[in-house]
This record gives sequence, C-alpha cells and structure tokens, in this order.
Amino acid sequence: MCGIVGVVGNKNTTDILLQGLEKLEYRGYDSAGIYVTSGVNRFKLIKAVGRISDLRAKIGIDISGSAGIGHTRWATHGKPTVDNAHPHLSQSGRFVLVHNGVIENFVALREKYLADVKLAGETDTEIAVNLIAKLVERDNLSTQEAFQKALSLISGSFAFALMDTTDMGTIYVAKRKSPLLIGLGEDYNMVCSDAMAMIRETNQFLEIHDDEMVILRKDELKILTITGAEVVRKPFTAELDLSDIGKGTFPFYMLKEINDQPTVIRTLLQKYTNGTGEMMIDEAILADILASDQLYVVAAGTSENAGWASKQTFEQLTGIPVSVHTASEFAYNFPILSKKPFFIYLTQSGETADLRQVLVETNRLGLNALTITNVPGSTLSREAAHTLLLHAGPEIAVASTKAYTAQVAMMLILAKAIGVKLSNPQAVTLDLVRELGIAATAIAAIVDMKEVIDDLTYQYTEDTRNCFYIGRGSDYHVAKEASLKMKEISYIQCEGFAAGELKHGTIALIEEGTPVIALISDLRLAPHTRGNLMEVYSRGANTLVIATEACAIDEDEIVIPNVHPLLTPLVTVIPTQLLAYYASLHRGLDVDKPRNLAKSVTVE
Ligand code: M6R
Repeated sequence: MCGIVGVVGNKNTTDILLQGLEKLEYRGYDSAGIYVTSGVNRFKLIKAVGRISDLRAKIGIDISGSAGIGHTRWATHGKPTVDNAHPHLSQSGRFVLVHNGVIENFVALREKYLADVKLAGETDTEIAVNLIAKLVERDNLSTQEAFQKALSLISGSFAFALMDTTDMGTIYVAKRKSPLLIGLGEDYNMVCSDAMAMIRETNQFLEIHDDEMVILRKDELKILTITGAEVVRKPFTAELDLSDIGKGTFPFYMLKEINDQPTVIRTLLQKYTNGTGEMMIDEAILADILASDQLYVVAAGTSENAGWASKQTFEQLTGIPVSVHTASEFAYNFPILSKKPFFIYLTQSGETADLRQVLVETNRLGLNALTITNVPGSTLSREAAHTLLLHAGPEIAVASTKAYTAQVAMMLILAKAIGVKLSNPQAVTLDLVRELGIAATAIAAIVDMKEVIDDLTYQYTEDTRNCFYIGRGSDYHVAKEASLKMKEISYIQCEGFAAGELKHGTIALIEEGTPVIALISDLRLAPHTRGNLMEVYSRGANTLVIATEACAIDEDEIVIPNVHPLLTPLVTVIPTQLLAYYASLHRGLDVDKPRNLAKSVTVE
C-alpha cells in the first residue's frame, strides 16, 4: 500500500527518493510523486500516474536538492490521477505533505476548518495539509505547533511527512497505525515506510510509535508525543542484506521466491532446532501456550490459508484446540473466548491493519499473544508480547509464496515443541528435522518440474475465464490458497472447494472445458476426490490432477514426491504457485505487481 520516503541534508536527494520509491513499489501503488527543495521557496513538485518509470520520465533532466519527500499512492479517496497523487501542496503553496492511511473525520474537518479552501483533488490528505496551513496562517501557530494540533484533531490512521517551503531543513513526521521508520545517515536523516527502501543508505534505524511526531533535521532529530513530551529512544541495527532484495537472474521476484522455498525451510531448521533435533523455541512462548486452553490464529489472505493448513496438524501434535479466523471479521465481532485463550497473529508483513485491530483489543484485554512474521521490528511484532521470525528473507512479489511455506513450517516446529512438552506420542516420535529436510528436497524437485507445469498451464488456462481447485482435508485448504494465487496474479476467476461440496451447488458452474484441478495427497481420501473429479469430468470439465506418488495413478498429470502426511501442505502448494505464475506470465501481466493489490495492507 502507499509508501513514503523523505530525506533531509543529502545532496543526492532526488536519487535517494526515486530509489527509495522503487524499493517500495512492491507494496502496490498506482501513482507516485516527489517534492525536492534546493532552498527557501525553490522546489520542484513532480507527480505521475502509473509506475516510478513514468515519474522518472517526467523528471527528465536531473533535478537537484538537499531535502525532499516522495510517495507512492494506492488509491483510497479519489481515483489514481495526477491531482490526487502525493505530495499535496496547501492552497497557499507553503506546505507540502505525503500521507499513508485514512483520515476518518475528513468531512467534518473540512466543514469546520476549510469551508473557504479550494481543493485540487479528492483526497483526505489535502484536508490535512490545508488544515496545517490554516492553523499556521490563521492562528499564527508555528509549523510544529500547527502539525501537533492537526494530529490531535485528526482521527483515523496516518503516517505523515510534512515540509514547509520556507524551511528546507526540516521534515515533520508523525504516525498512528500506519508504518513509518526513521533512517539515520551520516550528516543526513531519512524517513521511510520500511527499512528496505533505506538499506542502501543505512542500517541504523529508529522506531516511531503511534501518536508520536519526529522533527527531523540533517544532524538532529527530536521525538515528541502528540502532547509534546520529549521521548528518548535508542536506534537499532537492521540485519537486512542489500543482496536479499534483488531478484538475481530470475525474470520476476515471484519465481525467485518460489525457488527460495527449500532454503527457507532449511533456514528455519537452523534457527529453531539444535544439533540433536530438539526444537528451540523461547520458553516464555511455550509457557504461555501450555497455559492456554485454545489457540486463536488470526490472519488474512495467504497467511490465513497457512493457518488453516496448520490447524489440524497443530491439534494432532499438541491436543490443544486451534481455531482460525479472518482478521477483518474477528476485529469487530469477537466471539465468546475460551477461558484461557492464546492468540497467534500469522502475518508475512507484520503490518496488516486488520490483524493489528485485533491485537490492539487483545492487548487491551491483557491477553498475551505471539506474532509469527517475516519482518523484524514490524508493528505486530513490536506490539505482541512474543515474536517468532520466519527468516524467509524479504518477500517482494505481491503474491505470497515463501512466506506461506515458512508459516506452515514454523507452525509445525512450534507444534512439535509444545507436543514434546506435553509428551504427546505423535509429537515425540515425529522426527521433524528429518521430515522437513525431506520436504525441502521434494519442493526443490517440484520446482525443477517447472517446464512441464508451464506447458500444462498453457493447455489448461490459456483461454479460460474461470477455473476450480478441489481437494479434501489439507488438500482443501491448499486448494483455497491455490485459487487465491491464481486469481490475484492471472485475474482468472478461480475458486477452491471442498471436493465433496461440489454436488451441493458448485457443480452447476461446470461447463464444457471448465478447468478443474484436483489435489490428492491423502490415501484415505483419494478415492472420494477421484469420484468427485469423475463427476465434473462427465459434465465436460477439463480435469488435471496433482497427486503425491503414493496416491497417483498413471493418468495423473503432475506427480509430486511423497512427504510425511503432516507435511503435505508444504509440497502440494508448490505446483499451484507455478501454475499461477505461468498463467500470469502467459497473459503478459506484471506477475509481481498485480493490479489493485498491495503487498503491505495497512488500511482496514
Ligand atoms: O502480510 P500478511 O501476511 O498479513 O498479508 C496478508 C494478505 O494480505 C496476503 O497474504 C495476501 O493475501 C497475499 N497477497 C496473497 O498472495
């Protein structure tokens, strides 16, 4: 979703802003802009609809300056147009602002303070910048005072970076709910939505908490609460490696990230097991889970699918009931909780606003929680009592692949650790280090089948408008993940169904040639799924089977290696990631940046 970059005190400002915005592209956006200043009232403001390359084309000859702010916008209020793109100038032209988030009371603020102001676009951000200008110009407040007052008047979520064209040496920064981080350079400072966009310049960062503002200058910074109290906070060093965020020789990040998956599993084993095969999980996390009577896994999208794929295994290995919940639904409809609930937030980015809304409430209720995330220092990681990191390396493609496998593997490791503590026989006898090693090798073997899968994708999806995945048990949960992947990057309407449910309605959708892909990895359920597949085949479906060796028959199109039955969601998902990838590629789409989507979903 929207991204912010700002820099003060560096003569390469334009370059830093553009490179930073390029690094934020993965979050999803539809327009972009930069403001660069080289002296009092000497500035350039350039905006473009489309990609950063469109913005670069508009900049043409180099513009130079030593401070500035830039933004990628994912439209919420108002269409993606140049007028709605950020940065936004106040009507007077004195203040310039970039903003992420949603200002909920923008109509009321407009009516109360800005009835006489003519707005250029339709965004809530323009209300904020004009409100600040009004408080300076009408009420004679300083810029800092006006910013502070505006923050107290605004309700909703925001990350702001504000500049005053009469002072090229200061950026005013604030956040509530939306992510924002300070980057510390030598003789200059930066602000950005995430560390990745600044890692080329620095690995020294400073957190900003909700309802704090930061006055950022080239050689100093001051953190204040919204009520003006000064805050002292130490910087931290981010362990990001610049080479992690390149795509190497791969044409798209998604393909690189699919290939990364065996390594991701092996890295998790290194991080969370010792040389003798024992799981090494923070005892405080284990103690909290052992004291609970039910686990509530809260997640969205692919992470929710990873939660579902892990539920049954977790229950089998621990005996503790697990319920999985869609964060956006849970947030405003809390069910009756068990007596000793424990919450697990599964999130690649650690920034998803829907999850954070639930976390705020569970924190308010005094309930300890665990965030399982790929991003150290992310909001959900900071705000939950415990964190387990996925160590998958940055996931840049909007379509999540390696984070899914890392989440499923992490849940297995956690379940094994808990199960052993509880002397659960299945957990005690499961040699998880060995089985995960086998799964990693199996994933590598499936990735090596990519040419075959490319051909099959062509045959099955070339002209189709829709397509279905079916499965039973864990294959059903993977079917849902497979269909999400297919829809989001190929724009083919694709649904994942429980195979046994077709006859209760869905089978009416089957027409001559409709692709139906069956996942079959459970010997017990295989005959039933094959029966359901025959039912759609008899009605004209173009059927394709992905089966493990143990379940396969000669006619099956994609046969994948066997793994331990508890680990099948780690491998059955891989061909479906490749099917989605090639379907998108064959349609000439931007695989990594599908339309309308954002990597980090920071609004509710
Ligand atoms: O960062 P999170 O894991 O919390 O994100 C949740 C979803 O937005 C995300 O998984 C989304 O569904 C992916 N784009 C799917 O590939």
